[in-house]
Amino acid sequence: MNGLLTIAIDGPSGAGKSTIAKAVAERLCIDYIDTGAMYRAIGYKMKKNGISADESVKLAAMLENTDIDFVAGDIILDGNIVNDKIRTPDISKRASVCSALPSVREKLVAIQRNMGRKKSVIMDGRDIGSNVFPDAEFKFFLTASAEERAERRHRELVEKGQSVSFEEVLEDIKQRDYRDMTRRLNPLRKAEDALEIDTTGLSIEDVTDKIIKEIENNGYSK
Ligand code: DC
Repeated sequence: MNGLLTIAIDGPSGAGKSTIAKAVAERLCIDYIDTGAMYRAIGYKMKKNGISADESVKLAAMLENTDIDFVAGDIILDGNIVNDKIRTPDISKRASVCSALPSVREKLVAIQRNMGRKKSVIMDGRDIGSNVFPDAEFKFFLTASAEERAERRHRELVEKGQSVSFEEVLEDIKQRDYRDMTRRLNPLRKAEDALEIDTTGLSIEDVTDKIIKEIENNGYSK
């Protein structure tokens, strides 16, 4: 170990990964990196530039001129904060589609590995424990039933003032699960050595405590 701590949190959409990873990062005073937001930023930029998934030459040129970073919890795409622009049902779908493209994954995985080489991080996504950081000190895989995940996501969207039905959100979650699990390249899967936590019926605090306890019981303290 090089003195840096890497924690991987993977799982399907809506399992509570980002809220929990943020809470764990705060408790351990380390950086949180939301890799889903990075795929969303690419989906957003492709839409803005009118580039479709099959236009590989245009996409490669776009990726070469794309800069993604996190500063103080904000996601920065080419110098602009895009936090809210990437949290819409349309961009969710585009992120899932573009995340299956090899050129997109290659670019983002390289940025993610680079971030993890410089500082202690907790990173959430789909392939962090299985592909981005197979040697991470801690790996967790969060799950919850599709219905519970859809309920959580539906509540979030309604609170943000978006009008969308529960059925639509559930259908969208099921389609994204299918796409994320069946894509050829780095599909969503639990790393063999990850600890699986079913968050159905558990509060954010319950899951955060479980993760912190696991980390502390294995010899890491702030
Ligand atoms: O976690 P999220 O819903 O913000 O992720 C958006 C999409 O990005 C999701 O459909 C799967 C994809 N993704 C991925 O393929 N690999 C990651 N490490 C993170 C997200």
